Amino acid sequence: MESTQIGPGIYNVGVADWNIRDFHGYSTDVGTTYNAFLVMDEKIALVDSVKKEYADQLLDNIARIVDPRKIDYVISNHTEMDHSGSLARIMHRVGEDKPLYCSKMGVKNLARHFPQKWNYQAVGSGDELKIGKRTLRFLETRMIHWPDSMFTYLVEDGVLFSSDGFGQHYAGPEKFDDQVGDRIMVHAKKYFANILLLYSSHIEKLIRQVADMNLDIRIICPDHGVIWRREPAKIVQAYLQWCRQEPEKKAVVIYDTMWHSTEKMAEAINAGILAEGVASKPLNLRAWHRSEVMTELFDARAVAVGSPTLNNGLFPTVADFLCYMRGLKPRNKIGAAFGSYGWSGEAVKLIEDELKEMKIDLIQPGLKVQFVPEKSVLTVCNEFGRNIGRAVTAATGTDSLAA
Ligand code: FEO
Repeated sequence: MESTQIGPGIYNVGVADWNIRDFHGYSTDVGTTYNAFLVMDEKIALVDSVKKEYADQLLDNIARIVDPRKIDYVISNHTEMDHSGSLARIMHRVGEDKPLYCSKMGVKNLARHFPQKWNYQAVGSGDELKIGKRTLRFLETRMIHWPDSMFTYLVEDGVLFSSDGFGQHYAGPEKFDDQVGDRIMVHAKKYFANILLLYSSHIEKLIRQVADMNLDIRIICPDHGVIWRREPAKIVQAYLQWCRQEPEKKAVVIYDTMWHSTEKMAEAINAGILAEGVASKPLNLRAWHRSEVMTELFDARAVAVGSPTLNNGLFPTVADFLCYMRGLKPRNKIGAAFGSYGWSGEAVKLIEDELKEMKIDLIQPGLKVQFVPEKSVLTVCNEFGRNIGRAVTAATGTDSLAA
């Protein structure tokens, strides 16, 4: 990825990771980018860096604009290695004694990643760094996405360098939101549902605090994906809505299957939900990646989870998904469990225990079927789905899917 000019003296010098398909358990179907920003004034600042293996590309991108040794200040908005992994190379080239600005927690966390005794400058919310006619103001944003996270705001230009906040795992020819259009929102939503969901309440408060500062934000530059310049308020409003986790009139039927019996149940349950005018999809965990399932589940009111019983326990993909979902703590859900079994049938109760642990209210007792469900049993599954559909309608309103 070549560097991109964002405004006078402001460049994205980051890199594209075109071929990454698994980002610590998240399916990055179209790759991602690690954005880093060069701000030129009487002094020159580099905001963030990139993954370790892309250090040379970052340095090449910088060198096309300015000799990296002329950088005066390095700013680390976030310690996670996709943004700091190349710091050792960068600091070595820029100068080991150059000031490295980060939050107080950033100092602690960077020191736990790198043994070098860099010239750390700890900053807090409201602290400013003059670089000439321009000013960089720091805003601590703990848990977007780690305790060390902060935003850096370029005051005179209204540019917010937002680190993981407002990011998307998207690598494409487009560099700005207006070049991609609304389809970028799918990627932004998936990113929120899988990376930031756990911190929703906290993020909502932080965004409202930033809004109360009445900053003139004209451009938002996240560290992943495209830059929001056409309508930065749109992604901010989307975040506020997503943080509230108000579900739609929708259900998801998540399952795996050994000999298609749990699958037959899943499809009959899904048909029952649809018959009640509620949107629903059957999601087989061996066809759908856990992060895609989480995105589908994110705005659903009901989640039905099905598993065969394998060795007195859950099927491994179902256990994997429930573990992943539990960590992200989705709110405002109702749920149900189902599954086929051979002789012991523990899986349904194990799913119910997991759902209760996640504070998901059970709509009805779990549905267990021994071996292959016959026609009459599929009718029971269909009614099980209808109950889910009715519960979703009761919880979210009466508009029909066809309306
Ligand atoms: Fe893109 Fe939390 O790192």
